[in-house]
Amino acid sequence: MTKYSRIIGWGKYAPEQILTNQDLEKMVDTSDEWILTRTGIRERRIAAPEETTATMSVQAARAALDKAQLRPTDLDLIIVATSSPDHFLPAVSSTIQDMLGAKEVGAFTLTAGCTGFVYGLATAHQFIASGTYENVLVIGAELISRFVDWEDRSTCVLFGDGAGAVVLTASEMPGGVLSFVLGSDGSLGDALIVPSIGCKEPISQKVLDERTHYIRMDGRRVLKFAIRIMSKAAVEAVKASGLSLSDIDLLIPHQANLRIIELTRRHLGLPEDKVFINVDRYGNTSAASIPIAFCEAIEEGRVNEGDNLVMVGFGGGLTWAATVVHMGVLETLPRLVAWRFVPVGSLSLEEMKVIARATMDSLVFKASALLLPLYTKTGLRRRRK
Ligand code: COA
Repeated sequence: MTKYSRIIGWGKYAPEQILTNQDLEKMVDTSDEWILTRTGIRERRIAAPEETTATMSVQAARAALDKAQLRPTDLDLIIVATSSPDHFLPAVSSTIQDMLGAKEVGAFTLTAGCTGFVYGLATAHQFIASGTYENVLVIGAELISRFVDWEDRSTCVLFGDGAGAVVLTASEMPGGVLSFVLGSDGSLGDALIVPSIGCKEPISQKVLDERTHYIRMDGRRVLKFAIRIMSKAAVEAVKASGLSLSDIDLLIPHQANLRIIELTRRHLGLPEDKVFINVDRYGNTSAASIPIAFCEAIEEGRVNEGDNLVMVGFGGGLTWAATVVHMGVLETLPRLVAWRFVPVGSLSLEEMKVIARATMDSLVFKASALLLPLYTKTGLRRRRK
């Protein structure tokens, strides 16, 4: 039986160190005014020397598991989206599985640039919808500051570090991930590339001298692509979900550039209050950008029970991805999943009300599944008469 995959936990981690545009003015030939008008970024987070993609991921994952009221040992699968893993081998997903104290379950890393998190969500959804797994952890994490050329002003001002995670669980109640759209156009691969240190050009003195082990970007080409693809992908995902744009309560776009977000919003005809933006505080955290934005949107009270969200991104590859997620009562109060383990006395009135509503919903859903065949039969009988 096809199951619904519901997001019942979310968490984020942002390194403490803040690098402002004013700090960057002292490092490269740039200005706060240039960065702000071209990108909308004011500051970004930079990981401390002892931090890695794995340590940041574990922080975000623990927060997501706490929210979901699940233990790491409850996980059936771990998916990590990143372009900046700790090592080429082992996969950072296995390091994270071990650091979390999860069981010896499947764990893999996927690379799809900044769209990796939505690719991860779509993949997790498949495992849940097919009935294979119950609880899947999806992480988007990036320690991109170590792959940025701090002498290249055209890229170093754009990126930041961070991690975001969600826990998806199998449910029989309709909702959760409703649809997704994935795409790639490899012919544009060189527009955003780390030219060396892969098998095509392994590390050498030449590579170090020419600094081709760092990110290179043709900003204009990426900008043109993003402006074209973001609204297109969002529209396709909404159509695939069976909803229409007027049903969308919040757009959570990849936080790369305020101009791209603003144009996407206008192409979709959405009012300003239906778009979540935090690019000013984090810059482009690549695969971590959508899950961090998702967490903050919830923390800021921008996501409510019953809301339909669109997450959409573009990135290296070049790739794009969009998904529509319905946030039901399960998502609004994740502890509901484990509510039978929570002493009633520890619940607030608000939480008890949500549990009551969820229990009603669940009963109605179960009853409707039972009554539907009866209803259809009697309906048919009546029609035959
Ligand atoms: N400070 C000051 N000047 C800078 C600069 C900086 N940090 N970076 C580049 N410039 C200069 C360039 O050298 C160039 O100068 P030139 O015209 O003398 O050659 C000029 O600014 C380019 O300016 P402009 O044409 O106005 O840039 P833009 O409108 O394309 O904006 C980006 C540049 C990078 C912000 C924009 O192209 C962009 O956001 N692209 C998408 C990038 C992206 O999202 N990548 C991540 C994908 S997940």
